[in-house]
Amino acid sequence: MTGTLILLRHGQSQWNLENRFTGWVDVDITPLGRLEAEAAGRLLLEQGIQIDRAFVSVLKRAIRTLWITLDEMDQMWVPVEHSWKLNERHYGALQGLNKPETAAKYGEDQVLIWRRSFDTPPPMMAENDDGHPGKDRRYKNIPIEKLPVGESLSMTLDRVLPYWRAQIEPHLTAGETILVAAHGNSIRAIVKHLDGMSEEEITGLNIPTAVPLVYRFGEALTVLDKRYLGDTAAIEAAALAVANQGKANNE
Ligand code: 3PG
Repeated sequence: MTGTLILLRHGQSQWNLENRFTGWVDVDITPLGRLEAEAAGRLLLEQGIQIDRAFVSVLKRAIRTLWITLDEMDQMWVPVEHSWKLNERHYGALQGLNKPETAAKYGEDQVLIWRRSFDTPPPMMAENDDGHPGKDRRYKNIPIEKLPVGESLSMTLDRVLPYWRAQIEPHLTAGETILVAAHGNSIRAIVKHLDGMSEEEITGLNIPTAVPLVYRFGEALTVLDKRYLGDTAAIEAAALAVANQGKANNE
């Protein structure tokens, strides 16, 4: 038996609540998001899970979710590595737009392609946009040509996977229990890799907010089992709600 992995999407963010494309915009979690993170911590505690190390994006909705979850578990002391490689998929020029309004304007099919197709990127953010990551101090050590201005899931996977292999896998192979606090689409990229899902299959996967997804691994990091912690019907309803965020009438 080798390591254990917990994948955790951040709790509800302000822009999840407003149903806006978020991507790399650094919005915080809502009061409900905080409660969700506390509940995630309690579920992990009930399982007796002891975290050895955590990894998180450089976006506050994931960082705060991680803090609250670890606090609930009384394990705030664990080493934490922050990386932009775990950031949400960059949603390009869609960032800030309301999802139902975008569906009403461009059609639900187009929004579904932007949200869930494997390799169609959103319209790119303009180079002179105030929100360009090159203007953000937290990315100052990253070569400008590596900073995305819009990513498909495939492009997200291309930046997540080398980080996964170099920084996270070795700790799982060493038998550690790892918590990764990240985002809907950076987690979808990791799940696609771990589960060997096809480009078709991954289009149907929606990750609910702040529900711990626990993987246990055998030799050579083969997946022994995977399961969400919590009430199955509630988790399925939450995943369906994420899927429906791109519907024109979903206010
Ligand atoms: C966002 O960036 O808008 C969300 O975190 C994920 O959005 P999606 O479910 O529309 O891909």
